[in-house]
Amino acid sequence: MTKIPLAVLISGNGSNLQALIDASAAADFPAQIVLVISNQPDAYGLTRAKEAGIPTAFISHKDFITREAFDRALSDMIEAYGGEIICLAGFMRVLSEWFVKRYEGRLLNIHPSLLPKFKGVDTHARALEAGETEAGCTVHWVATEVDSGDILAQARVPVLAGDTAQTLAARVLKEEHRIYPEVLKQVCADRLANRQ
Ligand code: GRF
Repeated sequence: MTKIPLAVLISGNGSNLQALIDASAAADFPAQIVLVISNQPDAYGLTRAKEAGIPTAFISHKDFITREAFDRALSDMIEAYGGEIICLAGFMRVLSEWFVKRYEGRLLNIHPSLLPKFKGVDTHARALEAGETEAGCTVHWVATEVDSGDILAQARVPVLAGDTAQTLAARVLKEEHRIYPEVLKQVCADRLANRQ
């Protein structure tokens, strides 16, 4: 089966990356991860990728003077491995307009809130503070304005009495791991279908 080459960008634990690795192991999954890039050298996601036999790269944003220069290095790496769809999975850098335009329609993100609520960081603490009764996550296309691209899927979970940011995050993460591979599967299947 033809598979879309996928690059995944991470900065940390990589549990969403793991969900994508697990899903893409299925013979009928229409994407194959060709490269995992981290901007943090000690990201556990790099270990996950290596254990799965996936090529990895570490590029430090600290080695570049401008945001765009770093993004161009990311892009060079993605191109070298033939990455066609790019998944941000806990990648904690704002990307330049240049990068977002370059990968328009090919760049996906998962965000741990029900967008447009709680863009940015500390989403769970902010949801609790605001007295929300439900929380969730969103998979969306990346647009130049942060956490604002077209929404592809959302999943909702209840906020329970006694929740902390950690307990809520764990409940939401389970849903992230479910919907990110689902959306990716659909996006890649559509892309393959449009090629024929
Ligand atoms: C996830 O909650 C994701 O939505 C957010 O950062 C977290 C990354 O977790 N963007 P992990 O590295 O995938 O475990």
